[in-house]
Amino acid sequence: ISLRKYNTFGIDVRARYFTSISDTGELGAILENPDYPERLILGGGSNILLTQDLDTLVILMRIKGISVVREDKSAVWVRAGAGENWHDFVLWTLRNDYGGLENLSLIPGNVGTSPIQNIGAYGVELKDVFVSCEALEVSSGKTVSFTNEECHFGYRDSIFKRDAKGKFIITSVTFRLSRNNHNLHTSYGAIRTTLEERGITTPTIQDVSDAVIAIRQSKLPDPAEIGNSGSFFKNPVIPTSLYEQIKSAHPEIPGYSLPDHLTKVPAGWLIEQCGFKGSRYGDTGVHSRQALVLVNYGKASGRDIWKLAQKIMDGVKEEFGILLEPEVNVL
Ligand code: FAD
Ligand code: EPU
Repeated sequence: ISLRKYNTFGIDVRARYFTSISDTGELGAILENPDYPERLILGGGSNILLTQDLDTLVILMRIKGISVVREDKSAVWVRAGAGENWHDFVLWTLRNDYGGLENLSLIPGNVGTSPIQNIGAYGVELKDVFVSCEALEVSSGKTVSFTNEECHFGYRDSIFKRDAKGKFIITSVTFRLSRNNHNLHTSYGAIRTTLEERGITTPTIQDVSDAVIAIRQSKLPDPAEIGNSGSFFKNPVIPTSLYEQIKSAHPEIPGYSLPDHLTKVPAGWLIEQCGFKGSRYGDTGVHSRQALVLVNYGKASGRDIWKLAQKIMDGVKEEFGILLEPEVNVL
């Protein structure tokens, strides 16, 4: 079948075998089936670039269910199935006045994928609210659990992109959320100005979510309209000495200082400086409001997009001596 509607880039590649699973029993049975020695788990398809037809079995992760598994005076522990839609889950927490996920509103994809790259936005990362996740080990079919510490979360990084890559299928995630005295994260510039413009001085978690949604809608293309996968590259972390060197020629370069004499630089700024922002090559292009987002205007292939990505990587390398690393999973 065509995977076009199962990836937010809208790439038209074909999968030879395709199924959807709604419980762990079904998943276990598939893992034991010798006809399908290899498989690709697909959540919302919002962080992959498909560059070729797939001979492997594509498994659509659709395990559902949300439940409160524990609570005390100040917090609730909520477990959600890996196949729940992330933003719908965030909306559920807001309806229940559970705090912690509001800054992560409107991120596409599944709950079960959220730990893989430790999703983050507007000053909050998944690891701030993540308690544990359950997963099936592919080799044994056994259920295992990973604590926050065991996931080795980093910026857009976890054990699931490293040592555990491809070895586990995440089936549920448990979060610890606040029930009252919500600890709001509103220091991100755009959130502050949006709340100010709206005359909100004592924001609720709903206000923060609404602000985040407005900010995102103002610069990120909606995959339902223009194919994309969000940020195509990670923001590079470079030695502060290199940052200072670039800064002497470009005083306006933004940078976030990190420990160990390192500085994180917005890849969007680097790409924009190289003149790519808003550019179009055939049906591929660089979004006009956010240079970190590569887009498919219609019939681009995964290879076309990868070609553009490489062109950008070459350009940024030549201009600034920085090698950009894709954030999207390229298959
Ligand atoms: P998929 O693309 O379906 O899968 C990604 C990878 O994870 C694949 O390799 C897949 O095989 C694997 N995988 C999927 N499910 C499982 C599972 N259950 N067990 C094991 N492996 C699995 N990300 C951010 O962090 N912050 C943002 O602000 C953000 N904004 C975005 C905005 C837009 C418009 C878009 C399109 C994307 C954005 N993203 C952002 C990226 C994306 O939303 C996240 O990476 C999301 O977590 C991907 O989820 P998914 O289910 O769509 O993943
Ligand atoms: N910038 C430019 N030109 C651009 C885009 C950005 O100069 O075209 C500069 C601006 O100086 C801006 C700064 O980059 O102030 C930061 O831009 P923005 O706030 O849009 O954030 P980002 O660093 O580009 C990251 C994440 C996003 C996340 C936002 C908000 C990465 C790779 N991306 O983008 O995540 O939503 O911050 O927190 O870390 C994703 O992962 O798919 C994603 C969209």
